[in-house]
Amino acid sequence: MKRLLYIANWKMTVTPEKACAFYFDNKNELLELTKKADIILCPSFVILGMLSQHISELSSDCHLFFGAQNCSEYEKGAYTGEVDALTLKQVGCTFCIVGHSERRTLFGETNEVIAGKIQQLLTHNITPILCIGETRQEREEGNTIAVLEKQLHYLDDLYKHRSTSLVIAYEPVWAIGTGIVPSLEELSATIAWIKAYTKKKLPNIDIVCVYGGSVNQESIKELKTLSQLDGFLIGGASSDFQTFKNIVV
Ligand code: PGA
Repeated sequence: MKRLLYIANWKMTVTPEKACAFYFDNKNELLELTKKADIILCPSFVILGMLSQHISELSSDCHLFFGAQNCSEYEKGAYTGEVDALTLKQVGCTFCIVGHSERRTLFGETNEVIAGKIQQLLTHNITPILCIGETRQEREEGNTIAVLEKQLHYLDDLYKHRSTSLVIAYEPVWAIGTGIVPSLEELSATIAWIKAYTKKKLPNIDIVCVYGGSVNQESIKELKTLSQLDGFLIGGASSDFQTFKNIVV
């Protein structure tokens, strides 16, 4: 059976107390899950800092990883409130989400800003988890592929002379936090396009393609039947360990 990747995006919903309970109360079960799946936990920066010493205790063949939810597009300097990629690397981050639709819409991040963030991550050998996806209106107007193409088009420049892998999370904006999931047909067609497009653009890069948007204990059953998918990015349903575990198993 194919080994899948599960990314827990805890957003701003998990406090240090909750994060410690999730991690320390369930560590053995969590490690057990990583025997059949790759798991990336993406907490807030503060929690990453708190857990960093425990991250380094994980054995090198363990398939549990830590990721950030964002990083600065700048290398270093007077950027109050920002966190740079080198700092993320030093606290044990091996992945970082960029371009999440909440960052694009609520914080005005453009494709150019996101490209700057990817550049920083690649410099420090952190694998980007690049989120892409269209709004409901863009889909209804038949612009899905054009939107995705714009969100992906600068990748070949960024990956020139680089071999760091890339995770692409296809997250239709209308599916995030809404309980609505695309039909398997819709999803299959879009994932096939993303895979073909990125393979052509980055023939030498290992690309993992996951789906995100209202993945929960119910929706996962059907979603898992789509063999093109390499995994899932889970928001709301990832903060409770038992729920997350039920999605993974
Ligand atoms: P959701 O969020 O699983 O709560 O829909 C997914 C995401 O925003 O990455």
